[in-house]
Amino acid sequence: MPAPAGRARHVLAATAVAVAGALAVGTAVAAPSPAEAGSTLGRLAAAKGRYFGSATDNPTLDNAPYTAVLGSEFNQITVGNTQKWQYTEPSRGQFDFTQADRIVAFAQAHDQVVRGHTLVWHNQLPDWVNDVPAGELLGVVRNHISAVAGHYRGQVVHWDVVNEAFEEDGTRRQTVFQQKIGDGYIAEAFKAARAADPHAKLYYNDYNIDGIGAKSDAVYEMVKSFKRQGIPIDGVGLQAHLILGQVPSTVEQNIRRFAELGVDVAITELDIRMRTPRDAAKDAQQAQDYRAVVNACLAVTRCVGITVWDFSDGYSWIPSVFPGEGAALIYDENFAKKPAYWAVYEALGGTVTTDPPAGCAATYRVTAQWHGGFQAEVTVRNTGTTATTGWTVRWTLAQGQAVRSLWNGVLATNGQEATVRNAPYNGRLAVGAATTFGFIGSSTGTNPVPAVTCATA
Ligand code: XIL
Repeated sequence: MPAPAGRARHVLAATAVAVAGALAVGTAVAAPSPAEAGSTLGRLAAAKGRYFGSATDNPTLDNAPYTAVLGSEFNQITVGNTQKWQYTEPSRGQFDFTQADRIVAFAQAHDQVVRGHTLVWHNQLPDWVNDVPAGELLGVVRNHISAVAGHYRGQVVHWDVVNEAFEEDGTRRQTVFQQKIGDGYIAEAFKAARAADPHAKLYYNDYNIDGIGAKSDAVYEMVKSFKRQGIPIDGVGLQAHLILGQVPSTVEQNIRRFAELGVDVAITELDIRMRTPRDAAKDAQQAQDYRAVVNACLAVTRCVGITVWDFSDGYSWIPSVFPGEGAALIYDENFAKKPAYWAVYEALGGTVTTDPPAGCAATYRVTAQWHGGFQAEVTVRNTGTTATTGWTVRWTLAQGQAVRSLWNGVLATNGQEATVRNAPYNGRLAVGAATTFGFIGSSTGTNPVPAVTCATA
């Protein structure tokens, strides 16, 4: 499985904090640094024959600090919204793949495999589908699957063919599909998906089927009967929208029983929500919970990968759907790695040290601004436990920003990426010591303060 190239360095995650007015400051936050420098969750998972991915959605693709993490940390992407029926077939027979195509193109550009989500679901369904006469609905479902899975043929490695078709007690959910087509609609959907894309792995996907219970028993029986009848199903997706401290104890056992039926299993929408605000104790519990889920997957060979339902607490669906809850993901709102990230990192075989031999933090400050231009100063501080011999600061130029002339550092730009290494005379910083570099820049937009990262060399 392809994985993004890593960079060997100790990294301290940086956060940008916009301050009202013309002048603004970005601050860096220290985080534990992996001893196995340069690894990512995607690379670690790949070394174990798995993927570790994230869902994403179109609005965030324009956020450079976000896409920097999305494109480098993960080796799998799930299209979080824009492959759903309301986007792909908003009116009968009228298909639109513009938004989802953008996410698929992003994934391809970053060597990430794509999970398609989702072909048949009762939510985010355009109204017209509910009005289709019973005698025509199966034809409409087949046509939808054929068009959508056909459009992405060869580009989507896994498809969530049917989503959330069961109630908690294991009975069929009374969706429009269930009511107008009957029990057979799920099998028909899988057959249509196989015909549209013969190489995609076809999944049934649901929530609250992570551990053993009435609902997962019902899915288990369905998969067993599909296998017996030769209905083309390849996998079961456990969404894993979990609650802090409540990871079911039977996740591994559940994964194993599905695997023994001859299907793959994937953790497809992992998040572990808590009552907000976060605190250290909740973060520690969450880290333990994430670790338990990763370990359960790794214990069963047919558990092929894990996807978080977006990666940053700033872009999670949880607060809007579960009031008072949130902080469910592995990065915070400012893209700093949380304890849960490091628990996953370690569970996937990475080594984490909380006492980096050297580290640095960078603070970016706009010191003056005028029409079309600005002056900025970046402070680099040794936050590690030994002296630095050199440092590198990176950020993404946005909205027409360009660096015109820079002092006390050596600039390299590559497209939108600005990289500044120390000058020959200011690479050495004693523990706690700081130095600065500055530059004159031009800007055609609002001159946003970027997230800056600092690495020691
Ligand atoms: C959620 C998205 O994250 C939200 O942005 C959207 O408003 C609603 O859907 N189970 C699923 C996902 O299978 O498609 C859902 O995604 C979350 C629950």
